Amino acid sequence: MLRPPYQSYDRLYVYHLDKAEISTIDDPDLIGIWIEDETAVLFFHRAKDSLVAELCSRHECKVVYQADLDYCDWEAGQFISSFTVGGITVSPVWEKGPADIRLDPSVIFGSGFHPTTRACLETVITYLQSPEAAIKTMLDLGTGTGLLSIAAARFGAEKITAVDNNPLACEVARANCRLNGVDDRIEVTERDLRKDKPQTNGYNLVVANLYRGLLEQLIQTPSFWEGDIYILSGFIQSMEADLLAELPARQIRFLDRKQNDRWCIWVLGNRKVVG
Ligand SMILES: C[S@@+](CC[C@H](N)C(=O)[O-])C[C@H]1O[C@@H](n2cnc3c(N)ncnc32)[C@H](O)[C@@H]1O
Repeated sequence: MLRPPYQSYDRLYVYHLDKAEISTIDDPDLIGIWIEDETAVLFFHRAKDSLVAELCSRHECKVVYQADLDYCDWEAGQFISSFTVGGITVSPVWEKGPADIRLDPSVIFGSGFHPTTRACLETVITYLQSPEAAIKTMLDLGTGTGLLSIAAARFGAEKITAVDNNPLACEVARANCRLNGVDDRIEVTERDLRKDKPQTNGYNLVVANLYRGLLEQLIQTPSFWEGDIYILSGFIQSMEADLLAELPARQIRFLDRKQNDRWCIWVLGNRKVVG
């Protein structure tokens, strides 16, 4: 995340360690530590070879991958800048000028530049604006930067639970909620959805922009289908038939399908609610 004196991202210095348990790093150039599958990925604004070497010797671990790259290359070659979707303008914190949502995307998925994020954002806004859908509560599975939750709060959702298993994503999402003044309505929870299946009961809208394997696991879990309306994304066209075959057709009705680039987005409704 951005801390003074940094106001934007330029170069990223990345060190991937084969151990997740490392002590707190008190360094002004640290962007964040990404923990994934018993490993840690350290992001800095500047090269930190000697600090990382000292860390490795103290924690008896090693660097398995190291890179320095332009921030836009981390974001698949895209310069992150303001964009408008569903009538709202989302701006990175380093851009001045009017915006409905301000975001420090850091190194977390959900800057708004991926087709799935945009399609989910547009669909979340559509449903939040629909009087028939009457969305008051939302569960955001794999929240990333928190963008979808913040947009839902902007459009009137009263209680939102945002879940991610990446501690850095949770830290970034919480900071973005505070930045946009909606942290009183969004609870960001660190949880691994592979081990700890979500409770969807009581949520009007469940959004899951994840990856295929995890979506499949969720789809196959009967208690996943206790929410009202679902927005699912994170899969491409060639995966659709397999996922479709896994849906509990007696419980769930297909409401809409969109495609952005190769990426698909489904909107599904619980038959108890949508008939
Ligand atoms: C494709 S990104 C979506 C981010 C954001 N919701 C969006 O639409 O742009 C998926 C997010 O799910 C999180 N995630 C991946 N596996 C997870 C798991 N097992 N449990 C919880 N979150 C997970 C990732 O850390 C990432 O932030």
